[in-house]
Amino acid sequence: MKEKVAKNKKAIIAGNWKMNKTNKEALQFIATFIQGVKNLQSEVILFIPYVSLKDSVDLSKRTNVKIGAQNFHFESFGSYTGEISAEMLKDVGVNWSLVGHSERRLYCGETNEDINKKIKKAVSLNMKIILCVGEFLEQRESNKEKEAVMLQLKSALDGINKENLDNISIAYEPIWAIGTGKIASPDQVNKMCEFIRMCINSVYDAEVGINLKVLYGGSVNSKNCKDILTMKDIDGVLVGGASLKTYDFLCIAKEADKIFVGGKI
Ligand code: PGA
Repeated sequence: MKEKVAKNKKAIIAGNWKMNKTNKEALQFIATFIQGVKNLQSEVILFIPYVSLKDSVDLSKRTNVKIGAQNFHFESFGSYTGEISAEMLKDVGVNWSLVGHSERRLYCGETNEDINKKIKKAVSLNMKIILCVGEFLEQRESNKEKEAVMLQLKSALDGINKENLDNISIAYEPIWAIGTGKIASPDQVNKMCEFIRMCINSVYDAEVGINLKVLYGGSVNSKNCKDILTMKDIDGVLVGGASLKTYDFLCIAKEADKIFVGGKI
């Protein structure tokens, strides 16, 4: 797709805190972080635990830091003990969420069907999401990584219209690279991100694939982010461990801005 890359896209730099930080720690981090990114043009989003969402949204109002959830239930309300609906998130000012993170698929039994229902719910509420996809090590080792990612993508987006893709970004996160310190090579990452755009093109049309934001996630840190972010088909990063440290995450956001501002190619 060399000749067809949308220019002047803003990078998305997203942090996934997972089950980390108390409310006090979250607010301390965000207060410092807001200052650090105030002159950046990249889209900076922190996906944080539910209990800190409301205070964090209040703290980051009128700043360029956005606050997102890590998950929500596809139903609006009801007897789903321990769950949170997208309507509840919107009610506290949250307009972003991750959907289908591999840890939820693995540890919480989330299926492609659940993920599709969540995306339909998000679309109905005009909520922005980052859909996470990625293969297991065995799938990559048996050259089945594209097949695995295509299945996840197609089932997640089943019944979703082209117009709704404006609110959907994709994060390619190979499961074997998450939290392992084992980053996929920039070339492996770029190939898969290019493939993701091709899958989207085959379902919708070419314009959609070019404009789609495709991120990489899996052991990204302040040292390796440049190699990833400069790859042609990558529009940003979803960062776990390194997003918990203010300095490291700031370095990643600043690096992204350097690469993307004024057009990447
Ligand atoms: P990691 O996590 O950066 O710690 O590998 C990424 C993620 O799970 O989104």
